[in-house]
Amino acid sequence: MRVLCIGAGYVGGPTMAVIAAKCPDVDVVVADIDAGRVRAWQAGEPPIYEPGLREVVRTALGRNLSFTTDVAGSIETADVIFVSVNTPTKTFGEGAGRASDLQYWEATARTILAHAKTDKIVVEKSTLPVRTAEAMARILHSKPNGVSFDVLSNPEFLAEGSAIRDLEHPDRVLIGGEVSERGRRAMDLLAGIYARWVPEDRILRTNVWSSELSKLAANAMLAQRVSSINALSELCEATEADVAEVARAVGMDRRIGPEFLRASVGFGGSCFKKDILNLVYLCEHFGLQAVADYWLGVVRINEHQQQRFARNIVAAMFNTVVGKRIAVLGFAFKADTGDTRESPANFVCRRLVEERARVVVTDPQALDNARRDLADLGDAVAFEPDPMRAVEGAHAFAVLTEWAPYRALDYRAIYRRMEHPAFCFDGRNLLDHRALFEIGFNVYPVGKVPLSHL
Ligand code: UDX
Repeated sequence: MRVLCIGAGYVGGPTMAVIAAKCPDVDVVVADIDAGRVRAWQAGEPPIYEPGLREVVRTALGRNLSFTTDVAGSIETADVIFVSVNTPTKTFGEGAGRASDLQYWEATARTILAHAKTDKIVVEKSTLPVRTAEAMARILHSKPNGVSFDVLSNPEFLAEGSAIRDLEHPDRVLIGGEVSERGRRAMDLLAGIYARWVPEDRILRTNVWSSELSKLAANAMLAQRVSSINALSELCEATEADVAEVARAVGMDRRIGPEFLRASVGFGGSCFKKDILNLVYLCEHFGLQAVADYWLGVVRINEHQQQRFARNIVAAMFNTVVGKRIAVLGFAFKADTGDTRESPANFVCRRLVEERARVVVTDPQALDNARRDLADLGDAVAFEPDPMRAVEGAHAFAVLTEWAPYRALDYRAIYRRMEHPAFCFDGRNLLDHRALFEIGFNVYPVGKVPLSHL
């Protein structure tokens, strides 16, 4: 069997690497128009940072895994074509700021149509608005060339930073297809690939729309949990409750569960906000304003949490940060990735620069992306790979990504290098707050009473 994936990004690359590693007899080609990105994959040096990915790629590279820029040329030889191109939020026209921009996705459908000479199974891997698979089927069948296509929805649930683990041990694999004998056959064929390493009872088959909607719903509900605990964190700060204690007590209820209840400076990443806005747009489209408002609240609380974090920094530092050096520890939207899309750190840095602080950003994997994201701020922001140098002469440091190495830094030495009074704003509740306080820091966690010497 030959499998092609169009799009070699955060989803396409790791997913295909795992399929190739698990199915040595399946030939896997990944095609992308970005030549630089393709070269990196070809060299066994993935252009994204993902623990364990390099090893998996190298297992299959040259055996049954290859990368190419020849999208059109790879179509004909493939039996199954995964489409994993990006679908950013629209920035223009109808649905701007909410709906998905489907131009890359439609262009891909047209390329497939132009180059396919034999029947294909086309698998929608990108997260797309509900009913996109149907639109794809329409485009693919718009030319009577005797070729027929089965379009399946097979959303990816991997999280960045744990992509390989999530792909190798998925909670479930979801396949949506047409409710017909033909649709069933196509679903079985795709399920057969996953069944090489995923237990059958974890492979779900649904209708196409359920599958598409489930992906949006899963992300919306995960984000909702984070927004819920973050909303409670503000109440904890006001009442001397401790959000970690509340989360623990709440999460031990088996009906609720312990995951995704870590209070933070806010959620980020390429999926949560985008998918919720998509859901909101869908609801509005169907005239379900109350439902749209409900989900929009999840995004609003998240924005509020980021605002509040930045405002607290200024308030704690005597209501002015003008000219003060503030070290930002972590710029990625979460640990173990270099991805900075929708990172709360981006928002917080911008707010601090507006207040005329001198911001120094450090991050073990995301510094190049941070430089690009903040390029428009010019000299107001500096970038420093070494956290010990970033804090040199700083009035405050803020932890914005929960990188494990930040836990092991020598905070006594950091305290000596900083201006006094020295402030710590822990946007991830990562550090030992009591120990920092005893060293001399004024410590401001999320959802806990500050420990201040002032
Ligand atoms: C998410 C989904 O988990 C995944 O299933 C889907 O396929 C894509 O979207 P990802 O965006 O990689 O994955 O990150 P995730 O681990 O879900 O975290 C999202 C954001 O929420 C991060 O900014 C993270 O720091 C934040 N978060 C998460 C919290 O603030 N608190 C938590 O308790 C959990």
